[in-house]
Amino acid sequence: MPLLVLVTGGAGFIGPKLIGRLVERGDLVRVLDDLSTGSLSNISELIKTGAVEFVKGDVRDARAVSEAAKGCNLIYHLAAQSLVPVSTERPDLDMEINIEGTLNVLRAAKDSGSKVVFASSAAVYGRVNKTPTPEDESLVPYSFYGLSKMAAENYCRVYSELFGVPTVTLRLFNIYGPGTNKGVMIDLYRRLLRDPGRLEVLGSGNQLKDYLYIDDAVEALLMAPEKAACKGEAYNIGLGESYTVFQLAEMMLGILGLRGVEVTARGGVAWLGDMELTQPDVSKAERELGWRAKTGIREGLLRTLEWFEEKIGPIGGERKHSRQSCC
Ligand SMILES: NC(=O)c1ccc[n+]([C@@H]2O[C@H](COP(=O)([O-])OP(=O)(O)OC[C@H]3O[C@@H](n4cnc5c(N)ncnc54)[C@H](O)[C@@H]3O)[C@@H](O)[C@H]2O)c1
Repeated sequence: MPLLVLVTGGAGFIGPKLIGRLVERGDLVRVLDDLSTGSLSNISELIKTGAVEFVKGDVRDARAVSEAAKGCNLIYHLAAQSLVPVSTERPDLDMEINIEGTLNVLRAAKDSGSKVVFASSAAVYGRVNKTPTPEDESLVPYSFYGLSKMAAENYCRVYSELFGVPTVTLRLFNIYGPGTNKGVMIDLYRRLLRDPGRLEVLGSGNQLKDYLYIDDAVEALLMAPEKAACKGEAYNIGLGESYTVFQLAEMMLGILGLRGVEVTARGGVAWLGDMELTQPDVSKAERELGWRAKTGIREGLLRTLEWFEEKIGPIGGERKHSRQSCC
C-alpha cells in the first residue's frame, strides 16, 4: 500500500521539491495550501501525474485540516507565514498561522494517527551565545516569526509527550536553490539586473549565515520520519559552513563573470528581527539521522544562478569571462 502523505504549504518553495521526491518513491500526496504566497503552477506538473491531490484550504481552519489529514500516515507541516518582516508588521497573523495552524495539524494528526514532520527555522535561536550552535542552546528568538516557530516546536514536543503523537522538528537554516523567490540570493540578483555596475547589499554585509541547498533540505525531510525517534526532538538542518553577505556577493559576481562591480553596504540592520549570525552545529542530524549536506555553496550557487538566468533573465554589463563554475 502506498503511503498517503499530507503536505501543508506544499505549493511554496520547498513543498514542490519534496512532493516530487515523494511521488518518485511511490507515495500518494495531498497538498493543503491556501495559495496566499504559493502558486498552483508550482505543483501543476505533479498534479498531472495523478499521484498528487490539491486541496485549497487554510491551516487556521481546523475542519479543513482535519479533513485533509484523513487517511494520512505522514504529515509534512510546511504551511507558514514565513517572512520575518511580515511577522514584524503582523504578529497577529504570524501567531494565527504558525502557532494555531500547527495546533490544528497536531490535533488532526492525533485523530488520524499520522506522524508529523514540522518545518521550523534557525530563527528560533535568536541571539546565540555559542557557535556552532547545538540544538540544546537556549532559544531566545527576537523576531515574532522565530517566536511563533519556537512555540509551534513546543506544541509538537508536548503532543508527542502527552499523547504519543510522533513528531520531529527540523530547524531549517536559509534554504536556497532553483524555485526560490525570497532571500539574499534573489535579492542580490535582482539588484544586479537593475544595475550591473553596482551592488548595494542590505545591512552591514558582514551578516554571517548558513545557506543550505534545496536538494539537501529535501533529503533531510525525507530521512527525518524514517530515522528519528519522533518524540518531539529537533534537528539543525544546515550546511555547517557560514558565509557573509559580502562573501556571497563576491562568489556570485565571480560565477556570473561580472568584473568591476562596486559592492557597498547600506549599513544598519537588513530588517528588524534579522538574525545576523547563524552557524549551526549539524552533528546531531549526522549522528541520528545519517544526514549531511552534500552540495557545497559554490555548486549550489551556480545551479541557482543558472535558474535565475533562465527564469528572470540574464544580467548585462561588462563580462570579462563566461560563467564560471568556480571563483
Ligand atoms: N525557505 C527557507 O529558507 C526556510 C528556512 C527556515 C524555515 N522554513 C520553513 O519551511 C517551510 C516551507 O518554507 P518555504 O520556503 O517553502 O515557504 P513558502 O513561504 O514558499 O511556502 C509556504 C506555503 O504555505 C502556504 N500558506 C501560507 N499560509 C497558509 C495558510 N494559512 N494555510 C495554508 N497554507 C498556507 C503558502 O501559500 C505557501 O505555498 C515554512 O514553514 C518555513 O517557515 C523555510
